[in-house]
Amino acid sequence: MNHRAQLEGLPLKDLFQQDAQRYPRMTLEAAGLILDYSRNRVTDQTLGLLADLARGRGLPERVNALFRGEQLNTTEKRPALHTALRQPQDQPVQVDGENIMPAIQATLERMEVFTNAVRSGEWRGMNGDTITDVVSIGIGGSYLGPLTATEALTPFQSEHPRCHYVANVDGSDIREALAGLNPATTLFLVQSKSFTTQETLANARVARQWFLDGGGTETTVQHHFAAVTANADRARDFGIAGDSIFPMWDWVGGRYSLWSAIGLPVALAVGMPRFRELLAGAHAMDQHFQQAPPEQNMPMLMGLMGLWYMHGFGAESQAVIPYDHYLRHLPEHLQQLDMESNGKSVCLDGSPVSHHTGPVIWGGPGVNGQHAYHQLLHQGTRLVPVDFILPLTSHNPVDGHHAMLAANCLAQARALMLGRTEQEVRAAMIAEGMAEDEAQRLAPHRAIPGNRPSNLLTMERLEPATLGALIALYEHRTFVQAAIWRINPFDQWGVELGKEIGGQILPALNGEPETDMTFDSATAGQIARFRAAQGS
Ligand code: F6P
Repeated sequence: MNHRAQLEGLPLKDLFQQDAQRYPRMTLEAAGLILDYSRNRVTDQTLGLLADLARGRGLPERVNALFRGEQLNTTEKRPALHTALRQPQDQPVQVDGENIMPAIQATLERMEVFTNAVRSGEWRGMNGDTITDVVSIGIGGSYLGPLTATEALTPFQSEHPRCHYVANVDGSDIREALAGLNPATTLFLVQSKSFTTQETLANARVARQWFLDGGGTETTVQHHFAAVTANADRARDFGIAGDSIFPMWDWVGGRYSLWSAIGLPVALAVGMPRFRELLAGAHAMDQHFQQAPPEQNMPMLMGLMGLWYMHGFGAESQAVIPYDHYLRHLPEHLQQLDMESNGKSVCLDGSPVSHHTGPVIWGGPGVNGQHAYHQLLHQGTRLVPVDFILPLTSHNPVDGHHAMLAANCLAQARALMLGRTEQEVRAAMIAEGMAEDEAQRLAPHRAIPGNRPSNLLTMERLEPATLGALIALYEHRTFVQAAIWRINPFDQWGVELGKEIGGQILPALNGEPETDMTFDSATAGQIARFRAAQGS
């Protein structure tokens, strides 16, 4: 009998009953995070087999190769060195024979000077006013990481500057963001590694025009626009002063770029010392990931158990449910991190994969989801592993709310695990005085299968360092799965075709002179419908 089949007869509640030490044994602490993985459908034997799989697939060697800066992004011939962005300066990292640490440190120092100037009021706008608002314009990785971190660190923010984010090319996004802002006291950060992204450039142009219409000039643009990019020439062409252009490097992937100058809005919101704490927390998780054996390695355990559910139980998705209002954007960030990394169909050598790759990542803040999609988690036909995240203390201890929040989180994990049998439900209804035939009729509807797995990640308090560790944990979890599957998590060719076709459709929507482009009947029909709606 294979191991998966053996586990069928061992529901989670029995595993707890048989072993009083299950919780302490299946709890692991690293970098300020505590992972309780006791409510997973695993035994010590399962974990041993998964650790063997990791070693057999050369995971520890792949991890070392990642940190050493080997060209793991084989299709773009680049290393993926987001870990270097958060490591101490005295540990050199070579790319093409050059130590990249001095450039990283120099950028951090420039960020420090800039954020201090803006936050202290030394940096002045066109009329000599201090900056009250920062609008970060970027999309994908140039948006989700900073947005998530800025929201998560709300309790650490100063009153000024307030940070706003614009990503969508839907004009409503920038319109809403600019409403109520004063051009004389607003600073724009154009965040784009490539500085070619259509959505970002379109929004940056609107912002620039809004600034000019609001009394700005070509000269004072310098006081109100900064950029983060690996393409400084294009940022200069846009009119941004060289001093206000912060570098990116091709060895930082967009979805791993929070730790680079793309994190500038976060630093502006909470100050550079807090931003450095964020980096330090991520570095602490990096060290744990590099040094701990698979059996005691948080990202490895989470990645391996995720594989166990996908391949052993046919799980297609993974829910991430933070019981913390400030972490409400985390599921979105992790969705891009994981799905843009591991949504792949071929192995590193170009051969097709023979199984599913990255799970569908979804989720939202607890408890709100309990009144929405948790029904499917409890009684739906699919197995959805859940990661619950709970800071143990609150930044806003309002009248016992935090205990209620925590009770809900713990209750969800326990309810998923225990479930409720038809027999139990029937007995309870009869005990409450219901007629037996009615109890019989209702029992199947009210029974809950249980035996559904979850992790619970806790931390003392949500702080810059614990947030850094948390995001780094999920970056490495993603890497673990990619390494076992032998896919490349650092490219994203799949998004290119849509961009290319969008570039063909746009002129047609705008009624530009006939190109030699012909479209399928559905696309052509929708183009005609769109043009008719514009009155053209
Ligand atoms: O969606 C594709 C993508 O290339 C992401 O990987 C990236 O984070 C985003 O677009 C934005 O790219 P850029 O920072 O170059 O504007």
